[in-house]
Amino acid sequence: MTSKTVAELLKADFKSEDIDIKGWVRTFRANRFIALNDGSSLQNIQCVVDFENTDEKILKRITTGAAVHIKGQLTESQGKGQSVEIKVEQITILGDSDPETYPIQPKKHSFEFLRENAHLRTRTNTFSAVMRLRSTLSFAIHKYFNDNGFYYMHTPIITGSDAEGAGEMFRVTGLDPKNPPLTEDGKVDYKEDFFGKETNLTVSGQLEAEAYAMSLGKVYTFGPTFRAENSNTSRHLAEFWMIEPEVAFMDLAGNMDLAEDFMKSVLEYILEHNREDLEFLEQRLLEEEKTKPQAERSEMSLIEKLKFVVDNNFKRVSYTEAIDILKNSKPNKKKQFNYIIEEWGADLQSEHERFLVEKHFKRPVIIFDYPANIKAFYMRLNEDGKTVRAMDILFPGIGEMVGGSQREERLEVLKEKMKALEIDEEELWWYLDLRKYGTAVHSGFGLGFERLVMFVTGMGNIRDVIPFPRTPQNADF
Ligand code: 4AD
Ligand code: MG
Repeated sequence: MTSKTVAELLKADFKSEDIDIKGWVRTFRANRFIALNDGSSLQNIQCVVDFENTDEKILKRITTGAAVHIKGQLTESQGKGQSVEIKVEQITILGDSDPETYPIQPKKHSFEFLRENAHLRTRTNTFSAVMRLRSTLSFAIHKYFNDNGFYYMHTPIITGSDAEGAGEMFRVTGLDPKNPPLTEDGKVDYKEDFFGKETNLTVSGQLEAEAYAMSLGKVYTFGPTFRAENSNTSRHLAEFWMIEPEVAFMDLAGNMDLAEDFMKSVLEYILEHNREDLEFLEQRLLEEEKTKPQAERSEMSLIEKLKFVVDNNFKRVSYTEAIDILKNSKPNKKKQFNYIIEEWGADLQSEHERFLVEKHFKRPVIIFDYPANIKAFYMRLNEDGKTVRAMDILFPGIGEMVGGSQREERLEVLKEKMKALEIDEEELWWYLDLRKYGTAVHSGFGLGFERLVMFVTGMGNIRDVIPFPRTPQNADF
């Protein structure tokens, strides 16, 4: 008796054997054919019920969504579309599923509807494929860093500092919001709080990763991060996963090389594994494309896009060059951008990024050396005194995938910057210590994991690539 998965049964060379398998009924046709899925594959295995010798009460309970345990014989399939099937000898209903109320009917459901049923949506092929790819991607990421001599470190979820200085933090407090203890001048007294200070959920593990890079050399984090930015877009989550490598003695050019090599390796891995899931999603997208006007259709299929990224160099341009391109571009002159680029120093809006990536360069683009005043406090100031060694990596269809930089390693320069931005030196005393004791050039970046999953799966909404998305007004599951 073997208890193999559906994927294993469909892949194996056929030999007649005793089978013991559990899974969920996708469909039950003609009182005879069960399409059984166990999550291991997009494919269902056909299980043929001997309805004449099966209790009618049991037959009635074989409904879409029910969990069943089947014992039988693996046989060569008579039907088209599958090589093997299971001749059912014994079937046990493990869990019934009322066909009147079960939300996942065997038909096409909208992604909005499935989002409202996030706990059941992985019973569909699209979402099971996306989540299997998500799992493989995270494995590929750990594999890349492990193969390249990085240590995986865990950074705190609860922190006292605002790593990005953007003030987009979720407060963590044990105080009674209606009746908090107050200081003499009437402010909330966080000294009375659990940690004796104000704390929040982390927006990035970077600062702690810097500390470990400055002793272990090459480290990375891969954990949840939280942003209380009220952006209700298809690319923002309030809780997302970020990969943050940090490397001692590496400058910005090395950082770009690392990011590019890393992303290409991970995409290569996914092309070699999970091919079936990729091809299924590619097909789904091709169908979707057919409904669009010719001019809006994508030039490349999903797999072609992934291969293109693996096989071609990312374009590297400085912020200043990018602004020149934008200034002289047709949409800018024709005032087709909402926000016209005239001045050096402005932050790029997503429509500018899309223009550069999708229309101008038509490939991933690394923009570097941004104006200091639109970037975070920790970035290394350039010799020109007005730009910092920052880099953003922009991807077609996604926009910003990676944000990173060479870090300011000079104590005095860093202190001045913090002073200008009113960042508390006492709060970051330990971060300043790293510049006092054995400071050195170091760099790193953060890659938004869900944006990578979007690129790989071709899904258009970030809510559809994380199991239970958290967005403004939504933490339902
Ligand atoms: O550019 P960000 O804010 O950079 C940092 O946090 C740095 N500390 C990283 C580092 O240098 N170690 O965020 C990095 C990436 C973005 O490029 C984007 O892909 C993703 O994280 N990201 C989000 N993804 C989903 N939802 C959000 N609200 C995101 N905010 C950032
Ligand atoms: Mg950024």
